[in-house]
Amino acid sequence: NIIYIILELYSRIGGMHYALKSSAPAEVAAAVDVNTTANEIYKHNFPNTPLLPKTIEGMMLQDFDKLNFDVILMSPPCQPFTRIGLQGDVADPRTKSFLYILELLPRLSKRPRFILLENVKGFETSSARDALLKTLREFDYSFQEFLISPTSLGIPNSRLRYFLIARRPPGSFSFPTSAEVLFFCWQIIEGFPMSESLNSLAVPHSHPTSSECERDKTGTIIFKLETEQELERKRIQDSQETTSGSVSAAPPKTLLRYPLLMDVVQPSSRRSVCFTKGYGHYVEGTGSVLQSCVDVELEGVFKSSELLSEEDKLKQLSQLKLRYFTPRQIVSLMGFPADFTFPKHISIKQQYRVLGNNLNVHVVSHLIRLLISK
Ligand SMILES: *[C@@H]1O[C@H](CO)[C@@H](O)[C@H](O)[C@H]1NC(C)=O
Repeated sequence: NIIYIILELYSRIGGMHYALKSSAPAEVAAAVDVNTTANEIYKHNFPNTPLLPKTIEGMMLQDFDKLNFDVILMSPPCQPFTRIGLQGDVADPRTKSFLYILELLPRLSKRPRFILLENVKGFETSSARDALLKTLREFDYSFQEFLISPTSLGIPNSRLRYFLIARRPPGSFSFPTSAEVLFFCWQIIEGFPMSESLNSLAVPHSHPTSSECERDKTGTIIFKLETEQELERKRIQDSQETTSGSVSAAPPKTLLRYPLLMDVVQPSSRRSVCFTKGYGHYVEGTGSVLQSCVDVELEGVFKSSELLSEEDKLKQLSQLKLRYFTPRQIVSLMGFPADFTFPKHISIKQQYRVLGNNLNVHVVSHLIRLLISK
């Protein structure tokens, strides 16, 4: 029985590690990251995994050789490749550590058999990607590139990302690879869940009934849970929600200024937009807000509010009981298990920040299975 030995680079809060749990018998030989906040969260959830708080460039060839890994999983820093960034690409110092990995790869005493890389959309046109592909070809790796959003797995959250999976002999991919960057290529994998709603997946507090809305004057979150699994989830959330309760209700001023810029979703929605790192602080373009009282018509409220006084507008809008998704809800949307927690001293703002460049565990987990399948 094979146990894959993993090197997890730029490990952040452990999304790759969680993806392994449901995809491959594996042991993480080392996780490497310099971000102290992310590292505290990683350590809190994986106390037994060696976590090296280092830059990749700070590690020598021998350090890597000692780890004796078969698989590299990595999410290199993405800023250089984002479309809104400066497109600094390989000239950007943040790309240096990635190029350093490419340099080391051929010199390792045992080259890894499997590689998985995640990045932002835009990486596929960068020169860092060209350098990666050149190295892979040179050392006999076959590979496939993808652009995937969790929505293509039926998960109600958009987060379009670039992925590459690569392997070298012995063995080859169980599907014919293509030189194209594949979009939504799920016909390769079988057994996908059909689209689920936020209610079942990410928003364990389901919406209150109209009478409960009436009683919900204080803005406390009402739980209405169905299954045992959800009760367990609730127990875990209850212990966390005490700290996040105050930020989870969108402040009225924000509502009044930006109602039309917000992406409002309901618990029954089958979609939500990508949560970015300013979520909870800036309204425009940072992620969806949840309408927790669904018997009020959204359009009606926005339409009638045009003719009303400021105060009445606020009253109308507050009927919707808009809330920010809590960090806990976002992590479940991203596929993290119920037992994932943040250390107590990590503030809500920090939680939103680290979640902003997080990855979707389900997507990676499917890709790992695809990567190692015979
Ligand atoms: C760690 O990452 C978060 C989220 O990207 C960022 O806001 C923070 O500044 C980083 N901290 C350090 C010490 O690099």
